[in-house]
Amino acid sequence: MLEAQRLGQGKVDEEYRIVRSDDSIRLIRDQSFPVPDGSGNIYRIAGIAEDITERRHAEQKMGKAIAALAEVGELAAMIVHEVRNPLTTVLMGLNAIRSIELPESVQERLNLSLEEAERIRNLLKEILLYAKPQALQPSELEINAFIGDTLESIRMMPAISRRIDFLPAPHPVRVLADKDKLKQVFINLVDNACQALSAESVTNADAKITWTVEPDLITNSVYIRIHNGGNPIPPETLPKLMKPFFTTKSCGTGLGLAIVKRIVDAHSGELMITSNEAEGTQVSIKFAILI
Ligand SMILES: Nc1ncnc2c1ncn2[C@@H]1O[C@H](COP(=O)(O)OP(=O)(O)OP(=O)(O)O)[C@@H](O)[C@H]1O
Ligand SMILES: [Mg+2]
Repeated sequence: MLEAQRLGQGKVDEEYRIVRSDDSIRLIRDQSFPVPDGSGNIYRIAGIAEDITERRHAEQKMGKAIAALAEVGELAAMIVHEVRNPLTTVLMGLNAIRSIELPESVQERLNLSLEEAERIRNLLKEILLYAKPQALQPSELEINAFIGDTLESIRMMPAISRRIDFLPAPHPVRVLADKDKLKQVFINLVDNACQALSAESVTNADAKITWTVEPDLITNSVYIRIHNGGNPIPPETLPKLMKPFFTTKSCGTGLGLAIVKRIVDAHSGELMITSNEAEGTQVSIKFAILI
């Protein structure tokens, strides 16, 4: 470091090991910066020496965990792929038998088998969506117009039975995003909001969804928020919502929000959920605005 300073560069950033008196080895990061006086002449060198041993260990551990996760994802994708083909054959067979005239009890059993096989197919589809690395095909989107278009197709879906009020930003907001993946995010979120409003305890006055786009020009970000009333999510449940397979529904797989989180992360965005009795449940996504 002294040599570098002597050579007049002044700015140094390097790492080295030291052996302490108890023979333990520590990793040190050493940084120094030139400090100019009022007329721009460097009159001293300031320096920081930091023990980064623990941080580096944590980074290495995290790297291994990410690699292990990628392997699990790959394995899951392989299993799904292998199970899907025979399942398609089973479904085709069951559908073919349906056209035969059968006693009522057998027909009922057949329908049940078909429903269950269909459920497995959907579960496999979602596992694959979650496990697959999120390779994005980003393009420039004007978010108000994009949500307007997405909303038109969402409103036509039979599962979406609730009123949705859309409040766009007062001016165009451009972001860089993968259209198909972003649509998948919105469908999952609106689906959740609708299901939350289907609870018996929800009164009619509460039973609507509000979708807003709020730009924040100071941080150059845009917040896309989907709000619903209904029963609030208990505070102890909130941290679990984005974990794969967490669900409170008898027919849910608990992968919806986990997939949403993976997609939002892949866009370097942020996913936030707040919920309480007074304000209801709000899921927000923060994206960078394209300048
Ligand atoms: N808008 C919401 N309002 C209230 N609770 C919600 C909302 N969104 C999610 N939740 C809670 O979070 C849980 C996890 O949601 P997630 O979408 O991951 O799975 P799911 O909806 O149960 O099943 P699926 O995989 O079919 O989407 C839900 O079971 C529900 O309890
Ligand atoms: Mg869901």
